[in-house]
Amino acid sequence: MPRKKVTIVGAGMTGGAMAQRLIERDICDVVLQDDPQFAGTMHHGKALDESQAAPWEGFSTRIMATDGWEETADSDVVVVTAGAPRKPGMSREELLNGNAEIVRSKVAAAAKVSPNAVIIVFSNPMDAMCHVAMQASGFPRERVIGQGGALDSARYRYFIAAELGVSVNDVHGYVIGGHTDTTMVPVVSQTRVGGVPLTDLLPPEKVQAIVARAMRGGAEIGELYKTGSAYFAPSAATIAMVEAILLDQRRLIPCSVYHQGEYGIRDVFSGTVCQLGEGGIQRTFELPLTDEERAKVIAAAEATKELLKLLN
Ligand code: LAC
Repeated sequence: MPRKKVTIVGAGMTGGAMAQRLIERDICDVVLQDDPQFAGTMHHGKALDESQAAPWEGFSTRIMATDGWEETADSDVVVVTAGAPRKPGMSREELLNGNAEIVRSKVAAAAKVSPNAVIIVFSNPMDAMCHVAMQASGFPRERVIGQGGALDSARYRYFIAAELGVSVNDVHGYVIGGHTDTTMVPVVSQTRVGGVPLTDLLPPEKVQAIVARAMRGGAEIGELYKTGSAYFAPSAATIAMVEAILLDQRRLIPCSVYHQGEYGIRDVFSGTVCQLGEGGIQRTFELPLTDEERAKVIAAAEATKELLKLLN
């Protein structure tokens, strides 16, 4: 069997961290794509540097960098991180048109040489960039997936685990809706810790504080970094999705998916729990929500539709 191949578009902090996480799993070859005008020779440096980690990390798969697209041909998964990250104090939405132009041209070029790939969109504003990617690739909804919920849920679960002093592995909770500070929806009603509802373990004000901190999770890291946005947790979340697809793990991960009736929402990317495996999204799951949660999920999808009206 030929080796699986993953292209990471954009070799910044996040793209570089993704490449490292992925190559050290030893499950596929990795191509790091970037433009000399943005990255100089940085992507070549990252690929060579990581290749030289192989003797100690023990992986035998390959990582290479390219300025073009030929080397990316026949990728199984293409992860799009290209575009500007948000700066402290900036919302993800403010990146809309600048990043749309970059994502559009990158995805069109990638899709042309990898017509069967699954595209994972990381660039912000993520839900809107999924629309751009879907249009530029012409791919079906199963193969255009947004990374947002996987990261937002990781932050939510971490804060719960830290508060309760339990392993994060035993905290089950999902963040759905939009990947913005105001539209993400941590689904408190369905959050369980060792099978026990979160609301039985913490008073409402503690739960609310965790929800609020999770929703501003990306902004908090940006304020601490001062020069850019988060990349350790974002890369971990994205590579979990890539792995689920490459190894057909059928994991249930909250992702942004083009809704076709989920929660009564249609024709817009928004977050819900998806089964990820061979071919991308194999199935979507609708969580049982309270009326308030449902209203927030619907409002999130409406907000993305409004944002899309501002796309050039
Ligand atoms: C974050 C950015 C990457 O949430 O969207 O950290």
